[in-house]
Amino acid sequence: MIPYSSSMRRRVLGRRSPAEIAVAAHLRGKALLTRAFRMAMGAHDGLWLGFASETFLTTLDERYYAGQGMYLDAGYNGAGLHEWERAQIAEHFPASGRIGVTAAGAGREVFGLLQLGYEVVGFEANVALAERGTELLQAAGHDVEVRCSVRDHWPGGEDRFDAVILGWGSYTLIASRNRRIALLRGVAGALPASGPVLISFFSRGAATTYHRSLHRVASVARRLQQREGPAVGDALSPNFVHYFDPEQLASEVAEAGFDLVTFAEKPYGHAILQKADGRNGTAVASLPTTCAANRA
Ligand SMILES: C[S@@+](CC[C@H](N)C(=O)[O-])C[C@H]1O[C@@H](n2cnc3c(N)ncnc32)[C@H](O)[C@@H]1O
Repeated sequence: MIPYSSSMRRRVLGRRSPAEIAVAAHLRGKALLTRAFRMAMGAHDGLWLGFASETFLTTLDERYYAGQGMYLDAGYNGAGLHEWERAQIAEHFPASGRIGVTAAGAGREVFGLLQLGYEVVGFEANVALAERGTELLQAAGHDVEVRCSVRDHWPGGEDRFDAVILGWGSYTLIASRNRRIALLRGVAGALPASGPVLISFFSRGAATTYHRSLHRVASVARRLQQREGPAVGDALSPNFVHYFDPEQLASEVAEAGFDLVTFAEKPYGHAILQKADGRNGTAVASLPTTCAANRA
């Protein structure tokens, strides 16, 4: 007797078994539901982002970091730089000098740079993180503080730096292209001709169902309020983040007057920028603040 396999039956009968039909229907249903869920989540987040005030975004962000104990932890901050940061600094930063670090949190990059012998000034908009950073640095014997700063803005004022780091992931946390460009122009003003900038961000490929749905809904909401529109890649996850594709990043970096010297998506999106005109920067106005003002 010849064994009668399902593939033989398919060849003979030219149709799928009831079990195969059921599995295909099950998987199709699951895919449709996942897509519907992502569209609904995108629409929900688009509505909230579309009507979000500054205060809403700040509160969402602070709430997120309040739940992330790691950023306050002495061991985490004292461990210093990630391997990819260390490699970029070794290759592109001057061997010594004064480094500005924005979005410094409780000082992780500041600790790492001090360990490498740099002079460092750290800035952070979240008061709880800034104060914790100062406490940790001083407890470790460094006469350095993490200064409070205004969100989205270059905090360095008239200060000059040999290189700048926009703290881990923070380029992704600035909620509009125009603000990101203004921030980079502020950075440019504080740097010498060849001064490098390390930025890091979430990267993405083609826009997902979630991103497209969010963008559609947030665009309508912003149009109704005559506000700057959202960008594809904006998301609330859970705080505001923007996912960059390489073209988007290159275009805004160029508009801010920088060349993209390196670009990498792994192990975490990051890039080294250098001023395209090769001239010393001229300081631009910044928004100085105090921790007391940020708390109010
Ligand atoms: C991923 S944490 C990194 C903190 C620190 N650099 C580290 O590596 O531990 C991102 C930091 O960006 C800050 N941040 C969030 N939104 C910001 C904004 N719109 N402007 C400036 N900083 C922001 C947060 O307060 C947080 O400290």
